[in-house]
Amino acid sequence: VTAPVPVVAIDGPSASGKGTVAARVAEALGYHYLDSGSLYRLVALAAMRAGVPLDDEGRVAREAARLDVRFEGARVWLSGEDVTDLIREEICSVGASRVAALPAVRDALLDRQRDFRRAPGLVAEGRDIGSVIFPDASPKFFLTASVEVRAERRYKQLMEKGLPAKLESLSKDLAERDARDAARTVAPLKKLPDAVLLETSDSGVEEAVAFVLNEVGRAPG
Ligand code: DC
Repeated sequence: VTAPVPVVAIDGPSASGKGTVAARVAEALGYHYLDSGSLYRLVALAAMRAGVPLDDEGRVAREAARLDVRFEGARVWLSGEDVTDLIREEICSVGASRVAALPAVRDALLDRQRDFRRAPGLVAEGRDIGSVIFPDASPKFFLTASVEVRAERRYKQLMEKGLPAKLESLSKDLAERDARDAARTVAPLKKLPDAVLLETSDSGVEEAVAFVLNEVGRAPG
């Protein structure tokens, strides 16, 4: 019997730093990396471009099923176009949160996410990685930080990319999106009993990466 390919799950709210931490951990371990939130962002973008209303569950799910996406390093292409920066803009963040609330859309993205599980291992981050996508992941983390700290991080990221942003509206949008992500009936954002809580309001990325790597070293299997 061959052992299953290991998966490290990192779930948490928007701008908690889980993207950076997960990418760094994957690099350190030589594992593959899945940023599941980017898939919801891509679906929102594809739907908006196709003129599909974001609350039309059937049509948005069809867009999700036929998403023509390619990941390469830190960049992502949608139907041959590099949309790496575009999907980080607020319009895609808000759109992603809306399409992510639709069960048929989540179903349509299930196999696509599970396909990322390849040897020697996977670090996957999102909201439902440890609960729905890879319930057998080990270890699992719930990475979080206060709304204020997360809004500031997102603000800095956007500024560095030369993208427009207002701190106040970012903070308000984050709080609204948190509420929507946590309140939805399918795969709501919550800390699992078997997930390790990692609060990063007062600590840097380095500390979080070191903490996760240490826990991975200790994980059974
Ligand atoms: O992590 P992020 O901000 O890129 O995620 C974008 C949106 O997608 C966010 O509103 C939550 C949703 N999402 C989800 O519902 N499930 C996931 N596994 C990842 C993201």
